Amino acid sequence: MPATPAGILVINGPNLDRLGKREPAVYGTETLADIENKIAGRAAERGLAVEFRQSNKEGELVEYAHEAADLGYAVIVNAGAYTHTSIALRDALAEVADGPGFVEVHISNVYAREPFRHRSYLSDRALGVVAGLGSFGYLAAVDFLAGGR
Ligand code: DQA
Repeated sequence: MPATPAGILVINGPNLDRLGKREPAVYGTETLADIENKIAGRAAERGLAVEFRQSNKEGELVEYAHEAADLGYAVIVNAGAYTHTSIALRDALAEVADGPGFVEVHISNVYAREPFRHRSYLSDRALGVVAGLGSFGYLAAVDFLAGGR
């Protein structure tokens, strides 16, 4: 069983900065700041350091994965649409997978949506995948990484 990580880097990808405004019927009305505040509270309860990153640019997401690898941090990643397209992000997260590991989160149930959302380039390297539980998915991932495994 992997050790509890030194900390967690929460990486959100494209369009997740638009939460609260973007397709509320699919993604709810919480903003990314609301969700990050909840994650920070849960991580503090669990005694884990946590940092947050968001970008709409694929290369920046790759660099965030490198940062996590260098810090020895586990990752919680919602890569948005890059989940379904990005071999570059997969390759970067593979380094995290070889260390503390990462959890893939989706706010919506991607498997109940369009077929192109059913494929993930990340899932087979993830410790686990949470989809369709809204922002709770991020909190479940924190609990898991904090020792619920
Ligand atoms: C998402 C699902 C993706 O298919 C989509 O492109 C997103 C958000 C989710 O959180 O449900 O941007 O990752």
